[in-house]
Amino acid sequence: MGEKDPKLKSKFQRPRGMYDILPSEQKYYQKILKVTQDLADFYSFSRIETPILEKAELFSRGIGLSTDIVKKQMFTFRTNKDILALRPEGTASVVRAYIEQGMGSLLQPVKLWYFGPFFRRERPQAGRFRQFWQIGFETIGKKNPILDTQIIQISYAILDKLKFKDLIIQVNSIGCSKCRPYSKRLLREYFQARKNSLCADCRRRLKENVLRILDCKEEKCQRIIRGAPQIIDHLCKECHNHFKEVLEFLDELELPYRLNPFLVRGLDYYTKTTFEVFSKTENLALGGGGRYDDLIEILGGEDTPGVGMAMGVERIITGMKERPLRYERKRVPKIFLAQIGKLAKRKNLKLLEKLRKAKIPVAESLERDSLRIQLDRANKMKTRYVLILGQKELLEGKILLRDMKTGKQEKITLEGLIKKLKKL
Ligand code: HAM
Repeated sequence: MGEKDPKLKSKFQRPRGMYDILPSEQKYYQKILKVTQDLADFYSFSRIETPILEKAELFSRGIGLSTDIVKKQMFTFRTNKDILALRPEGTASVVRAYIEQGMGSLLQPVKLWYFGPFFRRERPQAGRFRQFWQIGFETIGKKNPILDTQIIQISYAILDKLKFKDLIIQVNSIGCSKCRPYSKRLLREYFQARKNSLCADCRRRLKENVLRILDCKEEKCQRIIRGAPQIIDHLCKECHNHFKEVLEFLDELELPYRLNPFLVRGLDYYTKTTFEVFSKTENLALGGGGRYDDLIEILGGEDTPGVGMAMGVERIITGMKERPLRYERKRVPKIFLAQIGKLAKRKNLKLLEKLRKAKIPVAESLERDSLRIQLDRANKMKTRYVLILGQKELLEGKILLRDMKTGKQEKITLEGLIKKLKKL
């Protein structure tokens, strides 16, 4: 070991925009995972987890070169052969797996869900991190609008189960490769005429992908966006009917939604339906998604439709902290195993394994020598019984069982111990 370097303490800190999930925060993650898992099972979604790294090109092709995510936010690095990226989202990866693993030959649609960390080099602020967790659902293989509604319904149901009662779903349709070029032309003409009032980013977007302007958060652009032509007014018949059905199904489910004709979302792969779920109190997008009927083909698969969503776990947790919920209490073992002396410690090390195999939950602090401290600990944990192995008991092949509530104690043979504990 070298000399202790006082500078090291401040040298190693978590990377900017990333955080530790401490034990005190785990209950939120567990709860979200449990609620999601139950709903996924109910709606027949199977879990998939893809690697944290993928070829950067998967995202630049999938999400689109003109998006902020690809332009500014990917963590990429070069290996001998490839340029890899920390995944900024899950849909492109899941589609890559769908194609690569031949899931097109399974019964369609294939319904998949995931829960894991994602990475975007954003400017850290409330609700925006550089490593964040998402829950995602993807339904691949069928076009039917009822699947769009089911994805929206699941987003809503997860949040509803987590006691969010102030949700509003914003929906839109951005058309398909047949009708969108016309809307884009109208939008280009509109923004071109107002080019000098747009921010620098939007002037660039005008050349690269005019739809990205609709996503701009700058106030001066927002004012212009409000008067822009709306894509839903220029949908082809197929997209129009699809959207109408999605809305009818939402009505049927009595879900609270509102049309937002400018909701294009920050990823280029969407076709037809786009949506976001907001909590009105925090006015924050907890999740969003939409249909992506061209993405599978763009990434090298057969012409296959898909629809999905993802939700931000940190944002959900921020909301959960405002809303009272019951969490499963951490189970405290009823028995504490204590020892006096070195030999007893060795024996307890082995006894602990025996108890584990017999499925008897026990607490211990094998690293302690003082019996007083061990009993203190048992008291703090509120364990009802303490097993004490001392020199004398060792010689007798027995162990002391003390009832902390009544103060009664008795000696039990080590052979009879498991039977006795199971009775307790
Ligand atoms: P997204 O809108 O980019 O969509 O992300 C979904 C959710 O992830 C957001 O609504 C937000 O709650 C959360 N989120 C995004 N970025 C951050 C961040 N930097 N910090 C904290 N939370 C964040 C997608 O990722 C698409 N893959 C959704 C999808 C699935 N579309 C179809 N299938």
